[in-house]
Amino acid sequence: MKALEKYIDHTLLKPAAGIADIEKLCSEAKEYGFYSVCVNSRFVPVAKKELEGSDVKIAAVVGFPLGAMSTEAKVFETVYSCENGAEEIDMVMEYGLLKEGHKQAVFDDIKAVCDAAAEHGANVKVILETGALTDGEIVDACKLSEEAGAAFVKTSTGFGEGGATVHAVELMRESVSPAVQVKASGGIRDRETALAMIKAGADRIGASAGIEICKVPEGEESIPFEPKAPKSILVLNGSPKMSGNTAALTDAFCRGAQEAGHTVHVFNVANLSVHPCTDCRYCFEHSGECAIHDDMQQIMPHLYTDDVIVFATPVYFYGFTAQIKTVLDRMICMQTSKMTVKGSILLSPYGDTDKTVPKPMIDMYKAFTGYVGWKNLGIITAHGCMDPGDIAGHKALEQAEALGKNL
Ligand SMILES: Cc1cc2nc3c(=O)[nH]c(=O)nc-3n(C[C@H](O)[C@H](O)[C@H](O)COP(=O)(O)O)c2cc1C
Repeated sequence: MKALEKYIDHTLLKPAAGIADIEKLCSEAKEYGFYSVCVNSRFVPVAKKELEGSDVKIAAVVGFPLGAMSTEAKVFETVYSCENGAEEIDMVMEYGLLKEGHKQAVFDDIKAVCDAAAEHGANVKVILETGALTDGEIVDACKLSEEAGAAFVKTSTGFGEGGATVHAVELMRESVSPAVQVKASGGIRDRETALAMIKAGADRIGASAGIEICKVPEGEESIPFEPKAPKSILVLNGSPKMSGNTAALTDAFCRGAQEAGHTVHVFNVANLSVHPCTDCRYCFEHSGECAIHDDMQQIMPHLYTDDVIVFATPVYFYGFTAQIKTVLDRMICMQTSKMTVKGSILLSPYGDTDKTVPKPMIDMYKAFTGYVGWKNLGIITAHGCMDPGDIAGHKALEQAEALGKNL
């Protein structure tokens, strides 16, 4: 269970703020147990000193508030902040360039900051300044940010046009995979607004009013807040190699999921005896019961008790392994109206370095899950993984863990 305080990046970015103000911000963050303080890079060393020995993190803004500095300046500011103790970087996207359609330049700018931050183990939040963007531009910005390696997309600087809105947060949540989190910031001053943002999909709230937001209302005892219920997850690993790349990707996902309190039920399909569907149509006449009695009967009940299904499969000739395809075909007997599974995930390593290789498999995954009515919750592929162990250090492992954690 995450307390409301742990959503808060306690923020002070006003130009007139001085050292004493930042010291006060840090002591409040410690007292109230906020997730982090969010400060201008100049003040990262001050915050580092004040927060010594506490678990409050430091987020530094970069390219703030206009986003129009050179990429080199943003990278320099990122490195400076990380070297002095920042674990999160809130960078402002070049939203003027995005509005003119210079997507490659926007991508390159975000990627340079993400790469620099990653070298120091820091996460990047990309501030989109949603008040200045159309819905279409917000969607594009989200996709570019995720592709460039951002951990978060964030609504606003608080210094530009408009602040966070429920609509923008919902749209951002829909436009990134669950591996990417959403931060709502700008104009959030009370508990009601903060909770509305969280309900809309925000994982973090940036606010200078954290103390006010977390005040316990009259008549309520405390504000533990649990927007995301723990989930049961059915994981089908379709690789015949028990210690291969798919297993590593699956393990990373499960680690994240379990850390977040979810339950995983992992099946190594290659170790099971599942016969291919024979199209006998027995299930059509017998309320979804399958005529073939084999290990598929261990998997099927989970479709009626679990919330999410994960297909983990290496790419075999542009598609799933035969093990996964066999299980899929046997799902023809599913009674979709009674199923509890509502969302699905695809995890897939492959040998080639050509990133178009998994496309036919992804098309097939989307077609099938769309047909059954499952919402796609994330697709993580890992190129260049031919031999077992090749996936070590691949960014897909981090993405899979984050996907599990953020479900
Ligand atoms: C039958 C077969 C077909 C394969 N087809 C492809 C392919 O079309 N494209 C590709 O990039 N890799 C292909 N591979 C390589 C696997 O995707 C790669 O080795 C993967 O990392 C195996 O995952 P694992 O270690 O979990 O078994 C193929 C491997 C096998 C055995």
